[in-house]
Amino acid sequence: MGLFSFLTKEIAIDLGTANTIIIHNDKVVVDEPSIVALERSTGKIIAVGKKAMMMHGKTHENIKTIRPLRDGVIADFQAAEYMIREMIKMIGIKNTLFPPALKMVICIPSGITEVEERAVKDSAEQAGAKEIKLIHEPMAAAIGIGIDVLEPTGNMIVDIGGGTSEIAVIALGGIVNNKSIRIAGDDFNVDIEEYMRKQHNITIGERTAERIKIEVGSALTELDNPPDDYPVHGRDMLTGIPKEIKVNYSEIASCLDKSISKIEAAVLNALENTPPELSADIYRTGIYLAGGGSLLRGLDKRIHQKTKLPVHVAEDPLRAVARGTGIALKNFDKFTFLIK
Ligand SMILES: Nc1ncnc2c1ncn2[C@@H]1O[C@H](COP(=O)(O)OP(=O)(O)OP(=O)(O)O)[C@@H](O)[C@H]1O
Ligand SMILES: [Mg+2]
Repeated sequence: MGLFSFLTKEIAIDLGTANTIIIHNDKVVVDEPSIVALERSTGKIIAVGKKAMMMHGKTHENIKTIRPLRDGVIADFQAAEYMIREMIKMIGIKNTLFPPALKMVICIPSGITEVEERAVKDSAEQAGAKEIKLIHEPMAAAIGIGIDVLEPTGNMIVDIGGGTSEIAVIALGGIVNNKSIRIAGDDFNVDIEEYMRKQHNITIGERTAERIKIEVGSALTELDNPPDDYPVHGRDMLTGIPKEIKVNYSEIASCLDKSISKIEAAVLNALENTPPELSADIYRTGIYLAGGGSLLRGLDKRIHQKTKLPVHVAEDPLRAVARGTGIALKNFDKFTFLIK
C-alpha cells in the first residue's frame, strides 16, 4: 500500500438497471437493487437499495420509489446521483479530515449514446468521483468470466440484465461486433404481468412478477427438472378481491417466448455478422451467458438448441460484470480499451 493511498479510494461500479454492485479492494462491498425512495413533499431521500425495494409498490401519497435506470441507461439523473452517492456511503469510507479522492471505473452498455454516457459521468462526478473511466459491459463480463480478452481468439458473450441484453464478440481487447437490445429481465416481468391479467384475470405488481419469474420462470415449456407450481396472490380484476391462483412453469415459458425469441434473433444476427476466422473460434469456444437473465431455467439449453453451439453460464452470473469491472480497475494500464 502506497504512502498516500489513503488519500485515494478506488472503486468499480456496475450501475445496472436492476442491481448496483460496488467493488472495493477486490471485494463486493455493495450489492443492492437500483432503486431509491423519496419523500414527495421535500424531495428528501429516505431509503436506497433493499430498503427502498421493500417499499416499492406499497407507497402512499407522500413517498415515491424511483428506479433511476431504464433500459441500461440513466432515466432520472437526480435519482441516479442520489443513489450512487448513498451507495458509496455504504462502503463505509470514514469521514476523515481529508475525504479521499474517488477513482472509479463504471461499466456502461455498449449501445449507449454519447449523451447517455455523459449522464453516467456527470452523476458519478456529482456523487464525488474525481477520476472516472468507463468500460463496456460485455468487455467487463468477459473479463469477469475469466476470458483472456487480449488474446487473438474470438469469444461470444451474451449478457442478459434487467434492462438490456448485450451480445458481443470480443477479440484482441476489443469488441469486434456487438448487438445491444433493450429486451431483458424487466421485459420478462412485464410479459408475466400482462399474462396474469389476460389469462387469469388478476393484477399483480412488478415485485410479484419478479417472484414468479424466479420461482417458476422458464425458457422451455418442457424441463428436465421442473419447479413446483407456484401460488400467486393478486387482485381479482372482476371482484376486486385478493385471490390466489397456481401457476406452472410451462405457461410462464409460453408467455416469455416472444421476448426470448427476440434475444435469440439478436444472437443469431451477431453470429451472422462475425468475421469467419472468429466464427471458427466461437464454434470451439461457444457462447458465454452472464447477467441475471441467464439464470432463467432452460435458457442455456434453448440457445444451444437454436445455435448448436456449446453454451456456458458464467459462475455467479449476476456479479460477472462487476467482477470484470473490478479487475479492469486494478489493471488500468494494461487495459487500454478503458474509455476516458
Ligand atoms: N433466478 C433468476 N431467474 C430469472 N431471472 C433472474 C433470476 N435472478 C435474477 N434475475 C433477473 O436478472 C435481472 C438482473 O440482472 P443483472 O443484475 O445482471 O441486471 P443489471 O446489470 O442490473 O441490468 P442491465 O445490465 O440491463 O443494466 C433482473 O431482471 C432479475 O429479475
Ligand atoms: Mg448488467
